[in-house]
Amino acid sequence: MDLQTAIQERFSYRGKYLNTPVPHKDLRLLLEAGLAAPSGCNKQTTSLIALEDSLLVKQVAALMEKPNFASAPAAICVLTQRIIAYRDRTYYVQDYAAAIENILLTATAMGYASCWVEGHITDADRIGRRMADMLGVPQDRELVAYLPIGVPAEKPVNVQKKPFDERAWFNGYGKTEEN
Ligand SMILES: Cc1cc2nc3c(=O)[nH]c(=O)nc-3n(C[C@H](O)[C@H](O)[C@H](O)COP(=O)(O)O)c2cc1C
Repeated sequence: MDLQTAIQERFSYRGKYLNTPVPHKDLRLLLEAGLAAPSGCNKQTTSLIALEDSLLVKQVAALMEKPNFASAPAAICVLTQRIIAYRDRTYYVQDYAAAIENILLTATAMGYASCWVEGHITDADRIGRRMADMLGVPQDRELVAYLPIGVPAEKPVNVQKKPFDERAWFNGYGKTEEN
């Protein structure tokens, strides 16, 4: 699948997954895609843990209480460190967002579905920290996103995106291709 097709076909999948295992080499490729992302001042604040042991995936995913996500045979946990890039600036959010998008696009190109699960695990109940503790993550790293990885069992549900002309222009704010 070429890059433009992967970009257009990526979507957040919240349905059930097939049991089809995700080979180790595929998970390794997804991790490499994440680590290849740019990072502010090259601080490389993002680190990743792939979950491929089926019992461990179930135990960690169970903390989310979302059975569909827990049905994925594999997952990638995204960790960050709030390292200062320069002066008081830290780009850790941008860094892990870039890494996640690389992973999601690569997963799409490989025929896997996923979902960027961040809001659910970074809420007041701190599911992400509980996941991190289960995985031996030190206190100076936060587990900010959980990406289930697997072959989808159900059809994609594409969300509606706003029309192009409402969000993207040429040569000035609000300038569409026609004007
Ligand atoms: C920062 C961020 C946090 C998100 N957190 C969650 C989440 O906790 N649970 C979830 O189901 N989807 C989550 N999503 C996925 C968004 O809901 C999804 O990207 C959006 O609805 C657009 O749909 P699409 O990904 O299919 O284009 C998150 C996405 C981003 C960028």
